[in-house]
Amino acid sequence: MNISEIKPGIRYVGVNDRTTTRFEGLWSLPYGVSYNSYLLLGDKVALMDTVEESFGSRFLQNIERELDGRTIDYLIVNHMEPDHSSSVQMLRRVYPDMRIVGNAKTLQMLAGYYGIADNTLEVKEGDTLDLGGGLSLAFYFAPMVHWPEVMVSYCPEHRTLFSADAFGTFGTLDGGITDSQVRLDHYWDEMRRYYACIVGKYGVPVQKALAKLGTLPIETICSTHGPVWQREIPRVLDIYDRLSRYAGERGVVLAYGSMYGNTEQLADEIARALAAQGVGPITVYNLSTADISHVLRDVFRYDTLIVGSPTYNGELFPEVEGLLQKLAARNIPQRNFACFGSYTWAGAAVKKLQAFAEQMKWNTPCSAVEMKQGYSHAACAESCRRLAGEVAAMLK
Ligand SMILES: Cc1cc2nc3c(=O)[nH]c(=O)nc-3n(C[C@H](O)[C@H](O)[C@H](O)COP(=O)(O)O)c2cc1C
Ligand SMILES: [Fe+2]
Ligand SMILES: [Fe+2]
Repeated sequence: MNISEIKPGIRYVGVNDRTTTRFEGLWSLPYGVSYNSYLLLGDKVALMDTVEESFGSRFLQNIERELDGRTIDYLIVNHMEPDHSSSVQMLRRVYPDMRIVGNAKTLQMLAGYYGIADNTLEVKEGDTLDLGGGLSLAFYFAPMVHWPEVMVSYCPEHRTLFSADAFGTFGTLDGGITDSQVRLDHYWDEMRRYYACIVGKYGVPVQKALAKLGTLPIETICSTHGPVWQREIPRVLDIYDRLSRYAGERGVVLAYGSMYGNTEQLADEIARALAAQGVGPITVYNLSTADISHVLRDVFRYDTLIVGSPTYNGELFPEVEGLLQKLAARNIPQRNFACFGSYTWAGAAVKKLQAFAEQMKWNTPCSAVEMKQGYSHAACAESCRRLAGEVAAMLK
């Protein structure tokens, strides 16, 4: 079998990146990432998106292998973020007659990034492009999933959606390409992490795109990152729907900062008391050592967040502040929230945590635990149990 053949005439030509340590300079890549690109071999040949330019020579070899002497007639640019567009200039040099297809916003960015303005084809919402040989494409705009110019391309003959970043996930394609060819276990968490870190702010546009695409019969989803989805489409759609509605499933994320371990002991005591009350699953993160992308992933996944912080120069502990800033930037509209904190001479942490939750308009029926100076079981355990009891009651 030709493993790169997704459907008759649709070939995978993307690449794996196991070298980059931080996606967008921010997000860890423990399983790497793939930049997916696809060739459509009709009477005319179309290439769907490109890859990160440092992988350009591998990409070109993949293309040449599948082209088998033919040339590229169209390059469809669904998304201009450079992880998908930065090989455009190189391809233009190799295939000078290749016509670049995008919408008005794409073409404006293409000129700004790569100085390319000639031999382009502007498409509008719902426009189609017939490649002949039983392949055609229809274009649907999906603005802000994840940039304003994003569109998706749909091939009705094979009920195949080229979805740009939507339904993408971190993680390379090890051997297989479709979801029945690769080991899937780690992709579900990686999909949530990708969503929370990259797309998380844009839940409303993602919901709009899901509603629009829901009218199409879709049997194959070719995203720009991660496996080609076929068998698992219902699960993938469900994850995206839940994440973009910010609908957390039952569970607690407890994230804290601590310099000398006193606030940390409060965190552990509260977590134990929660477990004793039957609340779960519980995930505890020390924000000084945690990978922040994991914390964001789990805040998107679960419905309850408990945050603890020492008072630090009259402010929140910086790593706690950093988490709150990232959560505010993602406009998470609803979460159950509780907090705890500590100080030695003039407490500020708890007040600032409460003010944050108020500003987010989150559900905050629980009273905070505020500790003065050091942790002791005798002084603190009772108030931790009380907080856990209030959280348990809130979740009933
Ligand atoms: C660099 C630094 C700055 C601090 N600033 C304040 C402060 O502004 N107000 C205050 O009441 N305590 C302040 N403290 C005391 C801490 O809040 C206290 O040590 C902490 O709450 C104990 O929790 P921990 O052991 O989890 O770090 C500061 C401590 C450090 C090390
Ligand atoms: Fe993107
Ligand atoms: Fe991307």
